[in-house]
Amino acid sequence: MMRNILLNRGAEKLEYEIREIVKKAEQVEHFGQKIYWENIGDPIQKNAKIPAWIKDIITKLVQDDRSYGYCHSKGLLKTREFLAAKTNRVGGAQITANDILFFNGLGDAISKVYQFLHPSARIIGPSPAYPTHSSAEAAHASMEPITYRLDPDNHWYPDLEDLYNKVKYNDNIIGILIINPDNPTGMVYPLAYLQRIVAIAEEFNLLLISDEIYSNITYNGARAYSLAEIIGKTGGIAMKGISKEFPWPGARCGWMEFYNRDVDPDFTRLCEILEDVKMTEVCSTTLPQMAIPLIFSDPAYGAYRQKMNEDIGSRSRVITNILKDLPYIKFNETYGAFYNSIVFSPGVLKAGQTLHTDNLDIQHLLEKWTSGKPLALDKRFAYYLLAIEGVCVVPLSSFHSGLQGFRVTLLEENEALLSTTFEKIKKAVINYCNSLP
Ligand SMILES: Cc1ncc(COP(=O)(O)O)c(C=O)c1O
Repeated sequence: MMRNILLNRGAEKLEYEIREIVKKAEQVEHFGQKIYWENIGDPIQKNAKIPAWIKDIITKLVQDDRSYGYCHSKGLLKTREFLAAKTNRVGGAQITANDILFFNGLGDAISKVYQFLHPSARIIGPSPAYPTHSSAEAAHASMEPITYRLDPDNHWYPDLEDLYNKVKYNDNIIGILIINPDNPTGMVYPLAYLQRIVAIAEEFNLLLISDEIYSNITYNGARAYSLAEIIGKTGGIAMKGISKEFPWPGARCGWMEFYNRDVDPDFTRLCEILEDVKMTEVCSTTLPQMAIPLIFSDPAYGAYRQKMNEDIGSRSRVITNILKDLPYIKFNETYGAFYNSIVFSPGVLKAGQTLHTDNLDIQHLLEKWTSGKPLALDKRFAYYLLAIEGVCVVPLSSFHSGLQGFRVTLLEENEALLSTTFEKIKKAVINYCNSLP
């Protein structure tokens, strides 16, 4: 026993099933099962090819000794100037290079933004919730996350009445988080919904945080409005990055943009504290920051991104065709990011449902995973899907949601493999739901 308490109470709130399920998949793989990885939003892992012109830009930077050094603690000035001008061109909030702060990936930015808030100051976010946000927010408060409902019976749009009432009756809420386009649902917030959220923020003097890591990843005719376009006069933080868009998740590079940072002294101080904490770490990754203006302003960029989005859209239609009429589930078409959350209809999942296998090793594994402590019913389904069909999805209950379901990705570039994966999911849903008399 340590001589004193070792852990902060909030530490127990950190969960990341997106990676946790990998440990289980590895056990299944050990018994010879092929795994269809549907758990993580890494396009590179799903066979995305980086075009030669991007590699050329990075190859040249590698020859530049400056790319090996530290940079300004807020990020390279030239890159921040470039990004500020890009935001200002959209209209709405106007910023300078000083309003941009780089991080080692948005994951780094997310964990820092909640860390310095007073424990009683809460940010309400969407549910199903992307766990990097909800776990970090919950850990700072040592409480369960506070969420507003995304509605699977209304295209996953936010339930604005739920949001309004929670904000109105909970004085601790000091900010609203939106993730637009959303992870894990693939929903893109309609403009009118965003305008209402801004109005709620104005009415109660709240801060707005908008995670826009997928803002340029839309398809099927959708467009994501950025916080800068709609914010008006409240304080806001947009979070942006290159992990999904270039895609270059291994670069660990993302940034915050502060809007209306002088509107409120507390918000001004929060922005300064975030800058100070980066100073204590020296700086964030240099080379990707050098690459950002070169890649964004390359004449090939627009067409490249458009093609990638069209491909995601066409994969979304393959998935829709396979799953849309399947009984037992609610299926929503997607418009942004590269995920879909599939929800089981109420009452469909029951304890005791199974999928059959003759493989004794797999049977024993499943027994081990599903016996003992109570297991969420969608987790149980996800374990069977993984062990029997090899498809590795993330159960929806891991996204701080009361809904039962699972998240899949739209990333598989190999079309035959994409169809095989979703046919396997379909088969598993049918057999699992029919396994009890
Ligand atoms: C909504 C959202 N925000 C942030 C991140 C983290 O991105 P990064 O790779 O920049 O840490 C992810 C990664 O999946 C994400 O889905």
